[in-house]
Amino acid sequence: MNIAELGRTGGGEPAVRTEGLAKSFGEHRAVDGIDLEVRPGEIFGVLGPNGAGKTTTLRMLATLLKIDAGRAEIFGVDVAGNPHVIRQLVGVTGQYASVDENLTARENLWLFSRLQGVPAGRARGIAIDLLAQFGLEKAADKPIAQFSGGMRRRLDLAASLITRPPLIFLDEPTTGLDPRTRGQMWDTIRSLVADGCTVLLTTQYLDEADQLADRVAVIDHGRKVAEGTPDELKSAVGNSTLQLLLAEPAEVPAAVEVVRRVLGSEPVLSPEQGRLNVALDRADLAADVLIALRTAGLSISSVSVAKPSLDEVFLVLTGHETDDHGDRALEESR
Ligand SMILES: Nc1ncnc2c1ncn2[C@@H]1O[C@H](COP(=O)(O)OP(=O)(O)OP(=O)(O)O)[C@@H](O)[C@H]1O
Ligand SMILES: [Mg+2]
Repeated sequence: MNIAELGRTGGGEPAVRTEGLAKSFGEHRAVDGIDLEVRPGEIFGVLGPNGAGKTTTLRMLATLLKIDAGRAEIFGVDVAGNPHVIRQLVGVTGQYASVDENLTARENLWLFSRLQGVPAGRARGIAIDLLAQFGLEKAADKPIAQFSGGMRRRLDLAASLITRPPLIFLDEPTTGLDPRTRGQMWDTIRSLVADGCTVLLTTQYLDEADQLADRVAVIDHGRKVAEGTPDELKSAVGNSTLQLLLAEPAEVPAAVEVVRRVLGSEPVLSPEQGRLNVALDRADLAADVLIALRTAGLSISSVSVAKPSLDEVFLVLTGHETDDHGDRALEESR
């Protein structure tokens, strides 16, 4: 079967499907039974904190790590059974991190093309096209050693596109980039999808998932704790959120007690001192909470009512600040 066709039309198969995917390092279950389904043509975000198992998941899907348990398919092709086919279907960034620093961007792209069996003449053309697509024409003949982080990241992504794979894995594509370069990277990723690619990306940034991803899986400790569109995830934590900053951080426990009493629910403590977020079913419940706080003699230095951000969703779901309360709350709400 023609590989490109397999990816683009897909025969109705999901771009990625995993069932019970697992990987242990010694005793540690880095990925602990993850089910995913990525639809062709979407940007799917895997969101999770440091050590959640994001990179390990991508590496298994890219055949760079052995799958310990469970199954994974890419466009209907079993990953463990057909690694050579999978490598033609997937473009992975990060795997070219050890490029020759003394070679120029153009030389690197040419070399990668040749290593992947592209004839010399065509390799030259591919390098020119990719340098243009990623805004690297001016830097084309500079050695990589002189590249900034953002330029390297773009060259890395360019290199993963040489074979025009239908599915692209991006592991934290914008970590460490400045806001403008991040925005450019987002545009680049969107243009890949407009060209018919499917993108699976990992991120620790809520706003990145919110801006880019059609659907998001939140993972923590190697397990999926939630999945949905960014809007669905946000509405899982209430229709609106009361955001409070207490004048006295030491009064947080007393404020938590008040919220429990008034709403019968648990506020989410933010890592920022004295700040707590209260999920509200109706925005007007905010008044009840504020009056009760005043009656209890607790003073507030700032207050707002907002639609919940993915940040709050993340805190609720991964629950590090709230002792896993959030995981249960979401499961119960489903
Ligand atoms: N080769 C390895 N050997 C041993 N442990 C590993 C290895 N690779 C990853 N781990 C462990 O597996 C867990 C998941 O790591 P992984 O790199 O997948 O997390 P991540 O979600 O990508 O985190 P980050 O956001 O920091 O990149 C971590 O506890 C990590 O220490
Ligand atoms: Mg990682």
